[in-house]
Amino acid sequence: MAFETEKGPEAEAAEDQPLAKASPFTPQERAAVYRAIHTRRDVRNEFLPDDIPDDVLLRILDAAHHAPSVGFMQPWNFILVRDSALREAVHGVFERAAAAEVDVLQPERRALYRSLKLEGILKAPLNVCVTCDRARHGTTGLGRSQQPDTDILSTACAVQNFWLAARAEGIGVGWVSILRECELRDILGIPEDIAVVAYLCVGYVDRAYVRPELEVKRWACRLPLEDLIFENRWGVPPEGRTSEAGRG
Ligand SMILES: Cc1cc2nc3c(=O)[nH]c(=O)nc-3n(C[C@H](O)[C@H](O)[C@H](O)COP(=O)(O)O)c2cc1C
Repeated sequence: MAFETEKGPEAEAAEDQPLAKASPFTPQERAAVYRAIHTRRDVRNEFLPDDIPDDVLLRILDAAHHAPSVGFMQPWNFILVRDSALREAVHGVFERAAAAEVDVLQPERRALYRSLKLEGILKAPLNVCVTCDRARHGTTGLGRSQQPDTDILSTACAVQNFWLAARAEGIGVGWVSILRECELRDILGIPEDIAVVAYLCVGYVDRAYVRPELEVKRWACRLPLEDLIFENRWGVPPEGRTSEAGRG
């Protein structure tokens, strides 16, 4: 399937020279990037049934495929799950895992947990399972001898690229981690040596929460950014610190 993406002048210049000018974006371009970041939401219930055209889906997958990866390992694969019987089976896995998760919560949080919608597996027309081939270029590699989990972290970077590109396309994404990996592995035929990193519910949306749904529903709230920034050593706040904390 051939497709075109808008990668900007830098990518075009890179065809015939290894280095190109890395200028800041125009104010409009910059605003678009920050808009995608700040208005990206985890979507669970607002999915429309409309199919995602192949060219749009490939743009989003290509954005994921341009994520950074340790040693340029590109350990990811993307399993596109459209089959409704498979999605029903995964939904069953979710229900069992959620029932187990509620038991390990503090008793006073259980009623709120049960009231939350925590997946869109059946409502979203597409599910995407993102995996990590931990031995894609051998069991070790550049950057992984001291930090072996950087292959998983690289795959998480691909998920974030996917999520942001989808937002720009008007497509919502919801990450479902309340799934027993071995059950998911069986349903999707994922080999033992391939790690499951993310299970995503994907579809067009016409509305989305302005603030995280878990904040709206009083499960958690955004931490003040200034409490999270240290300078030089753990626990030391920066001198004369300023912050943009409190953004929704
Ligand atoms: C690794 C990961 C796993 C997540 N798993 C779930 C999940 O199982 N169910 C769910 O409803 N949301 C899940 N989320 C979404 C978070 O709840 C959400 O990102 C957070 O509440 C902030 O909201 P926002 O993404 O809309 O900004 C997950 C997010 C991440 C990054």
